Amino acid sequence: MGTPFLFPIFLTLLITLNIFFTLTSSATLTTDQDALLAFKNAITVDTNGVLSSNWLANTSICDWAGVSCGIKHHRVTALNLSNLALHGNLAPHLGNLTFLQSLDVSSNNFTGVLPTELSKLRRLKQVNATSNNFSGEIPRGILTNMSVLEEIDLRFNKLSGELPSDICNNTPKLKKLFLIENQIYGKIPTSIYKCSEMEELRLSGNQFNGNIPTEIGNLSMLTLLSIYDNHLQGNIPFSIFNISSLQRIYLDDNKLSGSIPTNLDNLLNLQELYLNTNNLTGGVPKEIGRLTSLNTLTLYENKLTSMI
Ligand SMILES: *[C@@H]1O[C@H](CO)[C@@H](O)[C@H](O)[C@H]1NC(C)=O
Ligand SMILES: *[C@@H]1O[C@H](CO)[C@@H](O)[C@H](O)[C@H]1NC(C)=O
Ligand SMILES: *[C@@H]1O[C@H](CO)[C@@H](O)[C@H](O)[C@H]1NC(C)=O
Ligand SMILES: *[C@@H]1O[C@H](CO)[C@@H](O)[C@H](O)[C@H]1NC(C)=O
Ligand SMILES: *[C@@H]1O[C@H](CO)[C@@H](O)[C@H](O)[C@H]1NC(C)=O
Ligand SMILES: *[C@@H]1O[C@H](CO)[C@@H](O)[C@H](O)[C@H]1NC(C)=O
Ligand SMILES: *[C@@H]1O[C@H](CO)[C@@H](O)[C@H](O)[C@H]1NC(C)=O
Ligand SMILES: *[C@@H]1O[C@H](CO)[C@@H](O)[C@H](O)[C@H]1NC(C)=O
Ligand SMILES: *[C@@H]1O[C@H](CO)[C@@H](O)[C@H](O)[C@H]1NC(C)=O
Ligand SMILES: *[C@@H]1O[C@H](CO)[C@@H](O)[C@H](O)[C@H]1NC(C)=O
Repeated sequence: MGTPFLFPIFLTLLITLNIFFTLTSSATLTTDQDALLAFKNAITVDTNGVLSSNWLANTSICDWAGVSCGIKHHRVTALNLSNLALHGNLAPHLGNLTFLQSLDVSSNNFTGVLPTELSKLRRLKQVNATSNNFSGEIPRGILTNMSVLEEIDLRFNKLSGELPSDICNNTPKLKKLFLIENQIYGKIPTSIYKCSEMEELRLSGNQFNGNIPTEIGNLSMLTLLSIYDNHLQGNIPFSIFNISSLQRIYLDDNKLSGSIPTNLDNLLNLQELYLNTNNLTGGVPKEIGRLTSLNTLTLYENKLTSMI
C-alpha cells in the first residue's frame, strides 16, 4: 500500500544520486585538468609547440595531444609525451592523475627529480622516462609500493643514490626494471627475488658494488640479466645458472672472481653469455659445449687457465 509514496522518494533519490555523481565526476575531471596544466606550466621549453598550441583550456583534456582518457569515466589513463624535445621539470601534480596507467615522457630533456608523488598512482603499470636528464634518487615508493607496476624504464639519466633494501616488497607484477646508464651505487638488494615475475633486469652502467645476490637465482622467469659495467665482485652465484628461461647474461666488465659455475645443464635457451673483463680463474667448463642455443661467448680479459 505504501508504493505510491515510495515511488517519488525513489525518484528523488535517483535524481539526487545522479547530481551527486555528475558533480563528483566533473570535480575529478577538474583535478585532472589542473594536474595537466601544472605539468604544462613546469615545461620551460616546448620546442615543437605541441603543448602550447594544443593543450588549451577551452578544449577537453581528453582531446589534448598525448592524453588518453577512459571511455566511461573520462579520467586520464595514459600520458604519452615521448620525443617532443620538452625541457623542464616533472610537476608533482602528476600524482593527482589517479587513473593513470601509463606515463611515457621518454626522449625529452627533462631535468630535476622524479616526483615522489608518482608513487600515489595505484593503477600505474608502465613508466618510461628513459633518455632525459633526471637526477636525484628514484622515489622509494615506486620501487617498493606499486602493486600493479609492470615496466619501469629509467635508462640514460643521471639518477643516483642506492636502491631501497626492500625493493620489490609490494611490486609483485614488475617484469621489466631498466636502470642502465645512471649513477646508482651500493648493493643490488637481496629482496629483488620478491619481483617473482621479473623477465628483464637491466642494471648495467652504474656503480653497483658488493656481490651479485644469490637471490637473483629465484627469478625463475628471467630471460635477460644485464649487469655489466659495474663494480660487482665475488663469485658468480651458481643459482643464476639454474634459471632455465635465461637467454642473455651480461656480467662483463666487473670485478668478479672465482671459477665459472659448471651447472650449465639448465641453460638450454641461453644465446649470449658475456663474462669478459673480470677476474675469473680456473678452467673453462666443458659443459659450455652442451649449450646448443649459445651463439656468443666472451671470456677475454680474465685469468682463466684453459680454453675449450
Ligand atoms: C580556444 O582558444 C584559443 C585561444 O586561446 C582559440 O584560438 C581557439 O579558437 C579556441 N577554440 C575553441 C574551440 O573555442
Ligand atoms: C608513445 O608514443 C610513441 C610515438 O608515437 C610510441 O612509439 C610509443 O610506443 C608510445 N608509448 C607507449 C607507452 O605507448
Ligand atoms: C595536486 O597535487 C599538488 C602537488 O602535489 C597539490 O598541491 C594539490 O593540492 C593536489 N590536489 C589537487 C586537487 O589539485
Ligand atoms: C621507452 O621509450 C623508448 C623510446 O623513447 C623505447 O625505445 C623503449 O623501448 C621504451 N621502453 C620500454 C620498456 O618499453
Ligand atoms: C643532458 O644534459 C647534458 C648537459 O648537462 C647534455 O649534454 C645532454 O644532451 C642532455 N641529455 C638529454 C637527453 O637531454
Ligand atoms: C638538453 O639541455 C641541455 C642544457 O640546457 C643542453 O645542453 C642539451 O643540448 C639538451 N639536449 C637535448 C637533447 O635537447
Ligand atoms: C606505500 O603505500 C602506503 C599505502 O598507500 C603509504 O601509506 C606509504 O606511505 C607508501 N610508502 C612509500 C614508501 O611510498
Ligand atoms: C630461492 O631458491 C632457493 C634455491 O632453489 C630455494 O632454496 C629458496 O627456498 C628460494 N627462496 C624463495 C624465497 O623462494
Ligand atoms: C639448482 O637446481 C637444482 C635442481 O635443478 C637444485 O638441486 C639446486 O639446489 C639448485 N641450486 C641452486 C644454487 O639454486
Ligand atoms: C684482479 O685481481 C687482482 C688481485 O688479485 C687485482 O689487482 C686486479 O685489480 C683485479 N682486476 C679486476 C679487473 O678486478
